[in-house]
Amino acid sequence: MSVLRVGFIVCAVVMCGASVLSTAACDRLPGRPAVEAVAAEGTAEWTTQVFNTSCRGCHAQGKEGSAVPLMDSEYWRAATDAQVVRAVLEGQGVLMPAFGPAAGGPFTPSQANALASGMRALWGGGLKPSTAISGTVQAGSADRGKSVFETACASCHGSAGSGGSAGSVTDPMYLRLISDQGLWTAVVAGRAALGSPAWNMPMPNRPSGLASAEVADVVAYLSSLRPRSASELKP
Ligand code: HEC
Ligand code: HEC
Repeated sequence: MSVLRVGFIVCAVVMCGASVLSTAACDRLPGRPAVEAVAAEGTAEWTTQVFNTSCRGCHAQGKEGSAVPLMDSEYWRAATDAQVVRAVLEGQGVLMPAFGPAAGGPFTPSQANALASGMRALWGGGLKPSTAISGTVQAGSADRGKSVFETACASCHGSAGSGGSAGSVTDPMYLRLISDQGLWTAVVAGRAALGSPAWNMPMPNRPSGLASAEVADVVAYLSSLRPRSASELKP
């Protein structure tokens, strides 16, 4: 799994090449803006065009795409428009490109806002962000998170240093690539189409899912395993 994730750009490009679903021409890398004219800003047609051109290669729906699907409602249950706008303008971690003016990107803040609310209207399932869990990473205890991981996660992901049927999420190279916010989103939203449970779905030893504090703890634990420098990575 992590090898798949590590190769996500390759995957995105292959997806784009293989996709018959996208209305966008596949003559550019995901994220490279289109030069042709688009529909009037803020309309559903505009949102779809912008998304297909700049985002869909990485964030699609179901099993498609390597990054969190944005065409399914799972992500929108906890995420706020403000965090979406921030990710679009500033990027996130090392894998999500910045599209805002400070990075020389094509989107103004007002276009990022229109894209966030347009995507929520199209794919958010009518949901407002939950009050039961934050959409953004919260501080937790790595010590407590270790035992949450061992009881609720390890039967699918293996203990630290090994991998389970769902692939390792403690692999040092994976953790170097994914941000804490990305880990938070993976745990909170899950990916039902891949068999990855959302935070409040049943897991081993957690029949009603995790408490929100346990999400913070398990993310703090995974974050604590991230190598601080490349020299800590052993071939
Ligand atoms: C029932 C099995 C199962 C359980 C339990 C489970 N996961 Fe997963 N998880 C998966 C599957 C399947 C995927 C998707 C793997 C793939 O990318 O193909 C996944 C994906 C992930 C990812 C994202 C990897 C990526 O693609 O970036 C993270 C992070 C993660 N899980 C963490 C956790 C944590 C933390 C727990 C415990 C709180 C947990 N998982 C519990 C099955 C499980
Ligand atoms: C080249 C692949 C790629 C492209 C293109 C891309 N993203 Fe992303 N995006 C990612 C990855 C990977 C992450 C997770 C990075 C991390 O957390 O380390 C991410 C994260 C995000 C997040 C934050 C999710 C969270 O954790 O809250 C949002 C929102 C988002 N992207 C929206 C977009 C939108 C909208 C576009 C198009 C304008 C876009 N992305 C284009 C790969 C991409």
